[in-house]
Amino acid sequence: MTTDITLDDTGTGSGSAAGERVWSPAQVGDLHLRHRFAMAPMTRSRALPDGTPGPSAAAYYAQRAGLGLLISEGTQPSEDGQGYPSTPGIHTDAHVAGWRRVTDAVHEAGGHLFIQLMHTGRFGHPDNTPHGRQLVAPSAIAPAGPIFTAKGLQQPPEPRALTTDEVRGVVDEFRHAARRAIEAGADGVEVHGAGGYLVHSFLGINSNHRTDSYGGSIANRARFAVEVAAAIADEIGPARTAVRLSPYNTFGDIDEGTDGAELYGHLAARLDELGLAYLHVYDFGRDDVLARIRDAWQGPLLVVRDGRGPEDLLRDLETGLADIVPVGKLALANPDFVTRWRAGGPFNAPDPETMFGGDDHGYTDYPTLP
Ligand SMILES: Cc1cc2nc3c(=O)[nH]c(=O)nc-3n(C[C@H](O)[C@H](O)[C@H](O)COP(=O)(O)O)c2cc1C
Repeated sequence: MTTDITLDDTGTGSGSAAGERVWSPAQVGDLHLRHRFAMAPMTRSRALPDGTPGPSAAAYYAQRAGLGLLISEGTQPSEDGQGYPSTPGIHTDAHVAGWRRVTDAVHEAGGHLFIQLMHTGRFGHPDNTPHGRQLVAPSAIAPAGPIFTAKGLQQPPEPRALTTDEVRGVVDEFRHAARRAIEAGADGVEVHGAGGYLVHSFLGINSNHRTDSYGGSIANRARFAVEVAAAIADEIGPARTAVRLSPYNTFGDIDEGTDGAELYGHLAARLDELGLAYLHVYDFGRDDVLARIRDAWQGPLLVVRDGRGPEDLLRDLETGLADIVPVGKLALANPDFVTRWRAGGPFNAPDPETMFGGDDHGYTDYPTLP
């Protein structure tokens, strides 16, 4: 494994305001966190064929418990919600038993786990679902792909538009999955409202042409996200409920139009009323939208910036924009990320070849510092 990423002295934040702040404790829901780093959600596609977390998932997450708050890989709340091969689920007894092994290991190692609920909606492929059925979406509009499948890259086919009653049924799928996550010992769940998947596709103007109360105006396009969060908060408590958003992320062929600041300002304000554990923004360079969210949202804000380097990690803590800094690829490749950060590096470089699927290589065998 290469160790080719280093930080200079200022990169660790030592001596700067953020350098101090990152080591200060934080409260997220009912969790007391010892520092301001967290682990960002990352799909690893190593689950068993029935969606139970794979045999090494407990070791993988426990190795990274030093990050404090771990957000799991995207996990389908229902069979319809699966869009990629070998992603885990959290809707059957086997899933609950599998995740229980993971949460026990993480807790034993001193960490906390939020399970990310990812319904991929139209941005998937029937070949990747257990039942092979047509995908579901706000409208019958296929996204530009392609999507990874066992047969190689394929174009996502046209999805089926959910009826109004079915939309409410999907809200219930999220509610049920959240209950099952708590049964599995998770500290909470994060709704994947980012990345072009189902929740995000309700926000887009090119993906949502509905004429009922879930389409059209900003309030209507945001309704599904708010209802999912509210249903989960009602089921497991707001302190165990979180949401991830990615304003102006075009992944999954989403176009949010020109009123993104209004849309996300409205959504953040509605979510704020629910008093959730945290809001998580995967930012794509729109500082105006981020500022609107910060204004509207009073609780802990987690911010990931697309394309940032290690030297940029603490910038949003420094300016006061973010409260917690989720770390993605560097956490994937450095189980002892926090120790390495304190030491000023060096860091293992993530191996793109082993990110999705495969065995323990590139999963549980990244070395720690001696
Ligand atoms: C291998 C991999 C898988 C990912 N899977 C997910 C996912 O399941 N859910 C999600 O919200 N984001 C996912 N992401 C995005 C990350 O959470 C993060 O936002 C992104 O990698 C940028 O942060 P980084 O530069 O620290 O890696 C994934 C990223 C990577 C590299």
